[in-house]
Amino acid sequence: MQTEELLSLFKRRGVVWPSAEIYGGAAGLYDYGPVGLGVKHRLEEAWASWFVGLSPNYYLIEPADIVPEAVVRSSGHLEHFADADVACAKCGHHARADTLLEEKGVTDVEGLSPEALGRLLQEKNLPCPRCGERALSVPRPFNLMFALDFGAAGKEKAYLRPETAQGAYLSFARMWDVGRKQLPLGIAIIGKAYRNEIAPRNVLFRMRAFTQAELQIFFDPEDFTPPFDRVADEKLPCLRAADRAAGAVEPRVVTASELIQKGDIPPFYAYHLAHSLRFFRDVLGYPADRIRLLEKNEKERAFYNRIHFDIEVKLDSLGGYKELGAVHYRGDYDLSRHGEGSGTDLSVNPSGKKKFLPHVLELTFGVDRNVWGLADLHLKTETPSSTTGAGAEAEEEKGPRTLWALPAYLAPTQVAVLPLIRKMHSEKAEEIAETLREQGIAVAVPLTASVGKRYAREDEVGTPFAVTVDAQTLQDGTVTLRERDSRAQSRLPAAEIASQVRRQLVPPRPPRPAVPQAAATP
Ligand code: GAP
Repeated sequence: MQTEELLSLFKRRGVVWPSAEIYGGAAGLYDYGPVGLGVKHRLEEAWASWFVGLSPNYYLIEPADIVPEAVVRSSGHLEHFADADVACAKCGHHARADTLLEEKGVTDVEGLSPEALGRLLQEKNLPCPRCGERALSVPRPFNLMFALDFGAAGKEKAYLRPETAQGAYLSFARMWDVGRKQLPLGIAIIGKAYRNEIAPRNVLFRMRAFTQAELQIFFDPEDFTPPFDRVADEKLPCLRAADRAAGAVEPRVVTASELIQKGDIPPFYAYHLAHSLRFFRDVLGYPADRIRLLEKNEKERAFYNRIHFDIEVKLDSLGGYKELGAVHYRGDYDLSRHGEGSGTDLSVNPSGKKKFLPHVLELTFGVDRNVWGLADLHLKTETPSSTTGAGAEAEEEKGPRTLWALPAYLAPTQVAVLPLIRKMHSEKAEEIAETLREQGIAVAVPLTASVGKRYAREDEVGTPFAVTVDAQTLQDGTVTLRERDSRAQSRLPAAEIASQVRRQLVPPRPPRPAVPQAAATP
């Protein structure tokens, strides 16, 4: 589906719509409706279950969204967190200098200074993308943070946080005690980040207020040995920086063992890159051949990163590979800057033999971008001939259907209970729905329209199972269970629904590290 088509479906079905829509909208801000929020929450739960599940010493916390100026001064955001902005003298339109050049086919512009971008713009003599006049200004650095007057006196400056990561660094000293002074220590945060993007675009892809899910792993750089053998054979579709420099555009599949062979990528990094890939492929269900791991070179990566691979997924609605997450090796940059800035010693000495600043590995993930990714990759239109239809029986709507084939554990409603005839079967349907709710299953009981139309609506919002209650249910307690993707239907006692569906409603977790066996007592 194209972006506009997807957004139109999103609006119609209560997934997402522009914020302040009745005032004409506010660029880069979107509201989630019940269906979108349901998917977003399930995605966040699946993310936490996977990444916090990587180690027993990893925790989810919720720091404040607002940070005092001293924090962003130390982190480097006050100085460096800027894009190059150009404005049109004729129509007043603003655009990012690098994006303008990229749209005209100029490559390798990421990380260039405003001056270098200005020289390229002059060389190309580009017109304003809105009015067509050749009246673009010289690029100037534009800081992307939203500044706030903090407190009634208005004298203190604060900022909406530009990334959730900062909350983890600020909480490190506190969490060091909570985590019983052990490394690795993982601090995960799921929450809003705010950026005054020059050119917000592509709906959930470049927003001004968006949700990140980030895990900061603090570790001893001389002793961080996650069980690499568990990923050694994992196939990683890598596009290395050196290969890109030589003109490669397609990834080359290497195993995690091959990736660490040259010694420039440490095993702990490859281990987490493999686990991140598995999350996209095995938890979100993105096709393996649409994922690539793109390494950023020194010029492109953020000032704090030593190793940086973006996790990119090919999305048809956005015309190609897009960054949906990343793995950043940030070294000791963050703790050292906040240690200096706050005057707090953030070094640790867990063994009593060596005092050092922990290093940080950051696994970052854009929640909104992945809600979009789930729609792009799992929404399908099926013509009747392409349905397998073991159960494409009389109740099914004829003609094409739109189907959101989400993994069942990411669907907001897990079971729809449909009374065949509203007047006769609603009471029984409610009774069955209540029993399922008591077992922790998210249930809806849609009442209006024919059963076929109700199936179609539930297919569109991703509900994986539909239960139909009819005259026979009143006699023998059995119902029809319809499976969304195959439309297969089976008859079973209502009491068996939960056990039939429950296993599919739990997101996968990474295997727990083996617990060392206690030595046998003689
Ligand atoms: N803590 C590291 C960090 O913030 P980033 O690459 O700037 O790194 C991480 O952002 C992730 O956040 C991206 O991979 C993307 O998924 C998401 N993201 C970044 N900017 C965004 C925006 N304007 N709108 C929506 N998602 C965004």
